[in-house]
Amino acid sequence: MTEHITLLKPDDWHVHLRDGEALKAVVPYTAAQFGRAIVMPNLRPPITTTEQALAYKSRILAAVPAGMQFEPLMTLYLTDNTPPDEIARAKAAGIVALKLYPAGATTNSDAGVTDIRKTYKTLEAMQRHGLLLLIHGEVTDSDIDLFDREAVFIERTMAPLLKDFPALKIVFEHITTKEAAQFVATAHGNIAATVTAHHLLYNRNAIFTGGAGSGLRPHYYCLPVLKREIHRQALMDAVASGSPRFFLGTDSAPHASQMKEASVCGAGCFTAMSAMELYAEAFDGAGALQHLEAFASKNGPAFYGLPAHTQTVQLKREAFALPEAVPFGAADLKPLRGGETLAWRLHS
Ligand code: DOR
Ligand code: ZN
Repeated sequence: MTEHITLLKPDDWHVHLRDGEALKAVVPYTAAQFGRAIVMPNLRPPITTTEQALAYKSRILAAVPAGMQFEPLMTLYLTDNTPPDEIARAKAAGIVALKLYPAGATTNSDAGVTDIRKTYKTLEAMQRHGLLLLIHGEVTDSDIDLFDREAVFIERTMAPLLKDFPALKIVFEHITTKEAAQFVATAHGNIAATVTAHHLLYNRNAIFTGGAGSGLRPHYYCLPVLKREIHRQALMDAVASGSPRFFLGTDSAPHASQMKEASVCGAGCFTAMSAMELYAEAFDGAGALQHLEAFASKNGPAFYGLPAHTQTVQLKREAFALPEAVPFGAADLKPLRGGETLAWRLHS
């Protein structure tokens, strides 16, 4: 049995850090585990301009504890009206990507894109300037079953986009289905995908089997929602295949516990404080620990055109008691698996 592994310092290619007191509460967890992170722009109001992104970046940096090295990589929220000339400004300011939320797909997505054709001039500018397009890949039509939204998005939007923008680098974010894993593995074009720890560890039963076996567990509810076991297995096979197109993105999405444990539950799993431990558990469970370093530390930088880190970290098979809740401004925040003891521990 492997007792510890050493890997190059990992990065998180998809995280929600929020703002204000919430931001101050969660940034230290991500900075403790990762060298860099792609920061999602779905604040209220969303981060749609370079100026807003730079101001947000300085608030994030101010929340990094002294002595920790952490680089937030900033993104803009793509709307129907993002002006193409914003892209040159973004590029010059070091912004690396734009995030496409189909309007209504998830938390704070009401300003999202209503029709992809409306963004084509902006996507052309991104392709020209080398900014990446990060996609929440779900259709939002109410006649499409919620569990089918990702697969339908591939046919309707993702495949045509790849044809229309062959040089645009696209990240299919937090994929959840065998259809997405297969599409990303085999598509012609510049496409990759992030995969969360929770989609590698759980299928949709996890949402419905709390307590004695019949309780609903809101902390396992996220979007795209957990799918059937066959999909979880396909994701695991994809990340363990050695394909450089798959890399780590936690989609850690903190919501105050009273927002999760409510009649209408916010979507998102908070995993930042035990991210690498959860990924280690998933890869270990599949006998694939030898593929964790490429997934967590090499494939992401290679796709983004950035150097990998040179420092290393260690994961040890060691009991790690995860607190049930941690402070989140005036509220509290419950990590996924809070109150449980995990089998791996990150030492950085
Ligand atoms: O579960 C999710 N939570 N999925 C998303 O796409 C957004 C995120 C959030 O911001 O809470
Ligand atoms: Zn997200």
